[in-house]
Amino acid sequence: MNNRAGDASPIEWDPQSADAIADQIATFDTLRRACPVAHSKAFHWSVLRHADVVRALDDHATFSNAVSTHLSVPNGMDPPEHAGYRRVIEPYFSAQRMRELEPACRRIAADLIDALPSDRDIEVMGDLAHPFALRAQAAFLDWPAELHEPLREWVRANHAATRSRDPAAAAAVALAFDRHIRAVLDERRAGPGPRDDAASRLLREQVEGRELTEAEIVSILRNWTVGELATIAASVGILVYFFARRPDVARRLRDDAALIPAAADEILRISPPLVASRRKTTCPVTIGGLHLDADERLTLLWASANRDERVFGAPDEFRLDRDPELNLLYGRGVHVCPGAPLARLELRVLVEELLKRDREPQLIDARPPVNAVYPVGGFATLNVRFAR
Ligand code: HEM
Repeated sequence: MNNRAGDASPIEWDPQSADAIADQIATFDTLRRACPVAHSKAFHWSVLRHADVVRALDDHATFSNAVSTHLSVPNGMDPPEHAGYRRVIEPYFSAQRMRELEPACRRIAADLIDALPSDRDIEVMGDLAHPFALRAQAAFLDWPAELHEPLREWVRANHAATRSRDPAAAAAVALAFDRHIRAVLDERRAGPGPRDDAASRLLREQVEGRELTEAEIVSILRNWTVGELATIAASVGILVYFFARRPDVARRLRDDAALIPAAADEILRISPPLVASRRKTTCPVTIGGLHLDADERLTLLWASANRDERVFGAPDEFRLDRDPELNLLYGRGVHVCPGAPLARLELRVLVEELLKRDREPQLIDARPPVNAVYPVGGFATLNVRFAR
């Protein structure tokens, strides 16, 4: 890392350096303490502090989401166009829908946890986190079973393409997803009579007085899939690791399950499952003391802002009395995560089922966890033993 001119000026850093790959959160902590905005070739201008990230989220006219030339509904859109698509999307995550989904979600969590052996080590990401995220998402969308494996493989390829920042690789990955989803849409169109699953309902939705195009539906389903699979799997790993390190908190939540939702949000504030989101400037602006021209690219680092000591004091301290408004886990403003009710449902039932069974995760000294790298937070591998 190299500070170009004094304290407030941007530090030049390398997201591919050995230190950043080994521990991206520690790297962001170091950067944030040294400067409000850092620069790298891959991340462009990285906004590190809570106040500056909030400022960008609240000023969507200056900090635009239209960062990609590909259609991305609604992630890559700005108001007013964005609002029409949010109106279509939000009812899919209504309290009623979530109540209907809860029993299926609980069964998935219970089956996976019951299948975990107690007499040998397990790798949490492969044995619990990814299968849980995938099956819960399939239950939400009513995907056919034969789509599970291709989707899992697709998410892995999508992250590799994001990391490589290679537009050709990203386009190829998007196309591969589209093929799977178009096949489901064809089947739903040809099916006997109207159905009530998400894909069938999307085929009947209207925006601005017309039906959604097939490209829009595919994009919506792609963003839901990306939105869920990696973040939920990362969150499961982070929660299990936290309970292994803090059995006292696990016991407190077992005794008072009503604390689980707030505790999950706080644990995921400390260890973020989603690292960053992108923006670009629409006009000249000053942020974090730095002057940027129009059309500059920024990375809003959730994984730094949510650990900003100016707002949270000691960022690693687990506290249930923090102001939930300050937690940027699910974002804020017009792009605030529409899938948050689903994410919270999935993580709540997973933790409830885990704690109910009295199975304490224990870390294995000889096989320490390996951190995940951008764009995912949490762990690449996490070995534990679930004692009974
Ligand atoms: C722990 C799990 C999750 C976390 C931490 C998370 C976090 C976020 C954050 C921070 C944003 C704001 C991005 C921005 O401002 O650019 C966002 C947006 C979004 N999320 Fe999530 N998310 C999660 C789960 C989900 C799920 C389950 C879905 C859907 C099934 C989903 C779908 C989306 C979509 C479509 C957007 C874009 C919204 C828009 O641009 O209007 N996310 N998410």
